[in-house]
Amino acid sequence: MKYEDIFLKTEGDNYYKRNKGTSFAIDHDVPLKLLDIYGIKPRHVAEIGAANGARLHEMKKIYGDDLYTVGVEPGQKAVDDGNAMYPNINLKNGVVSHLPIEEKFDLVIVNFVMHWIERDELFKSLSELNRILDDGGYLIIGDFYPDYPQKRRYHHVEEDVFTWKMMYNQLMTSTALYREVAFLSYDRDDKCKLVPDVDPINRGFASLLRKSSSDFYHEK
Ligand SMILES: C[S@@+](CC[C@H](N)C(=O)[O-])C[C@H]1O[C@@H](n2cnc3c(N)ncnc32)[C@H](O)[C@@H]1O
Repeated sequence: MKYEDIFLKTEGDNYYKRNKGTSFAIDHDVPLKLLDIYGIKPRHVAEIGAANGARLHEMKKIYGDDLYTVGVEPGQKAVDDGNAMYPNINLKNGVVSHLPIEEKFDLVIVNFVMHWIERDELFKSLSELNRILDDGGYLIIGDFYPDYPQKRRYHHVEEDVFTWKMMYNQLMTSTALYREVAFLSYDRDDKCKLVPDVDPINRGFASLLRKSSSDFYHEK
């Protein structure tokens, strides 16, 4: 079975149940910190791998109730819980490689999701993120920050599934369709503190990227 189907069928719910006690800590949220530092005020935001939508809910508190939000999440339980707890955020069941979204957004957030993506779905997933982002919009992509690309057996399922650590921001910037506005690294194990020396096992990054279909190419 494909990894995504495992997540849609069982592991999305299992992951949510295992991590349900972990409350969303806005003070420690590095993606939201990036928006704050750069004074970015989104109007249409999509979060992919949104779990129960706690970040989107916080964003509505910060940016106003008229902030339009959509979250996509494979775990049906997380989607149901989130839509019940936060009825105005609009969570949908789905995966990043086939987003159930037709609109475009001025901000797309994908935080600690890309390491789950099977390598044969990687380019399709990046293409989907790009498809739903406005030209001139922002992408926040965050994940583990390893010293070099790594794969690790995911021990919560019987199937041969791996997680994949690499610098996903660089995949976007290497197209020259995205420019990195900011890159923050932090300690995932210590309240996501912004500290310079972190064991790479616990090191995370969040990158704020600006999309432009032509501005970052020089005409010669
Ligand atoms: C580590 S959690 C991160 C949750 C949230 N993005 C955050 O920053 O706290 C990873 C989330 O991605 C979801 N996920 C896993 N595979 C996915 C996929 N193929 N497409 C979209 N989301 C996925 C999981 O169900 C889980 O809710």
